[in-house]
Amino acid sequence: MSNNLPQSSNAKITAAKTDSHSEDTSRVLEKVLNLAVEMMNADSGVILLREGVELRTVAAHNISMDTAASLADLSSSGVHKALDTGAPLLIHDTRADPRYGEADSIIMHEITSIICVPMYVEDKVIGVIYLDSRKDRQRFTEDNLNFVGTFARMAAIAIDYAHNYNKLYFEKQLLQTDAEKLWRFEEIIGQSPRMVDVFKLIRRVMNSDITVLLEGESGTGKELVAHALHYNGPRRDKPFVVQFCGNLAEALLESELFGHKKGSFTGAIVDKKGLFEVADGGTFFLDEIADISPTIQSKLLRVLQEGEIRRVGDTQSQKVNVRIISATNKNLKDEVDAGRFREDLYYRLNVISIRLPALRERIGDIPLLVNHFLRKFTRNNDEPVKKVSPKTMEALANYQWPGNVRELLNTIERSTILSEGNVINVDDLFIPETEELAGGRKTLKDYEKEVVQKTLEDCGNNKTKTAEILGVSLRWLHYKLNEWKKPNNSKNTKS
Ligand SMILES: Nc1ncnc2c1ncn2[C@@H]1O[C@H](COP(=O)(O)OP(=O)(O)OP(=O)(O)O)[C@@H](O)[C@H]1O
Ligand SMILES: [Mg+2]
Repeated sequence: MSNNLPQSSNAKITAAKTDSHSEDTSRVLEKVLNLAVEMMNADSGVILLREGVELRTVAAHNISMDTAASLADLSSSGVHKALDTGAPLLIHDTRADPRYGEADSIIMHEITSIICVPMYVEDKVIGVIYLDSRKDRQRFTEDNLNFVGTFARMAAIAIDYAHNYNKLYFEKQLLQTDAEKLWRFEEIIGQSPRMVDVFKLIRRVMNSDITVLLEGESGTGKELVAHALHYNGPRRDKPFVVQFCGNLAEALLESELFGHKKGSFTGAIVDKKGLFEVADGGTFFLDEIADISPTIQSKLLRVLQEGEIRRVGDTQSQKVNVRIISATNKNLKDEVDAGRFREDLYYRLNVISIRLPALRERIGDIPLLVNHFLRKFTRNNDEPVKKVSPKTMEALANYQWPGNVRELLNTIERSTILSEGNVINVDDLFIPETEELAGGRKTLKDYEKEVVQKTLEDCGNNKTKTAEILGVSLRWLHYKLNEWKKPNNSKNTKS
């Protein structure tokens, strides 16, 4: 798809199909119109919406959109009168009506009867429902006119809802932003050397507008760091907007990011602001960036290069001033090498990259995180903060945590609820034994011991230095060394 998406009818259909809300509204309008035509035994019908001084066809039955548009002009004495006076109108014998010129009669010659009913939102006329009856088949009655009034009210509700939905959607985005201002940098827990490096980088880029790429496995805190960068940076009083880009249909993501003009595809009955516009002045966090399609990649490149966006269906570009932070749990360079991600975009996004370490690369932080979460999950102030037994802490440190901090957090929350006393025991954790997980392979304990022994060697047996490099406390190191001296622990060492 190109920037000219709405000009291509295929693209229009794709876009309409995936923008589920607009699509629903347009389907409701079609249904209301079809029902009105059927019940009134009319031949054709159109729903026309007022747009400034113009009228736009939003639904048509048994009539092409083009004819519907010209019909709205030709039958101006009916449609426009209903719009201007706000009163429903019943017209018979248009053929004999001197108000229609010769050209008009080509379309009008078959029409015997017309109904035009205005649609209201509060006290404003927003459009009309038009029905006609052709060939001398039947003439509409006053009763018909009253009945079409019901359909006009239904259509008006659907249109009003679509407008409000759009408004509320963006208000919600901004409200969420306000709520998240309460967020604090101190929420990122970690003292291990790997995390110290992360903090150093965060501080270095925090006061700038620099584009940052966050890489790391699932649950390692990428979104947390994106928050930290925004709420501690120069844009903290401006919106922080998040868009998840993974596994989304291209047309939907495109419309979310860049917005669309009304009429740009069948379902687009109102203008829609894209999130880049919502984020203007602030930060846009694009999550799971590796998954975006080539089309979105090139549009994003344009934002980064020119600071410009264009709504789907718009011919005009507009400037936006947005700081971009993106994240992925894939290796984006590998995606570039595999030809799935544009190299030029990769370098634009990756002005600075921060790699969040997996928990297994910073096991020394586990006790800190555990205690942080224990405090967090003690909601009641007069309740004592629960503790974990030393054995539990060991089990937590030894587990492999495929879901990283998120999984650790969930485990602590669950065990806080499940444990009966003030102390959380291993049984309350419900995590598989490390040995069980590892099967016949080396366990995390084995690696732990190997890493500690290797570091001790490298440091000439200096324990303080070893603890510092490993990001663990000296006490933890002594505890481990004593553990390994015990004969029943030798089974963990296979090296
Ligand atoms: N260093 C940390 N200190 C405290 N909490 C953390 C830390 N890292 C992650 N968390 C918590 O773990 C959860 C997952 O973090 P987050 O959503 O930032 O991860 P992510 O890397 O974006 O994961 P995904 O790739 O799955 O989207 C959150 O509840 C977050 O608060
Ligand atoms: Mg995330």
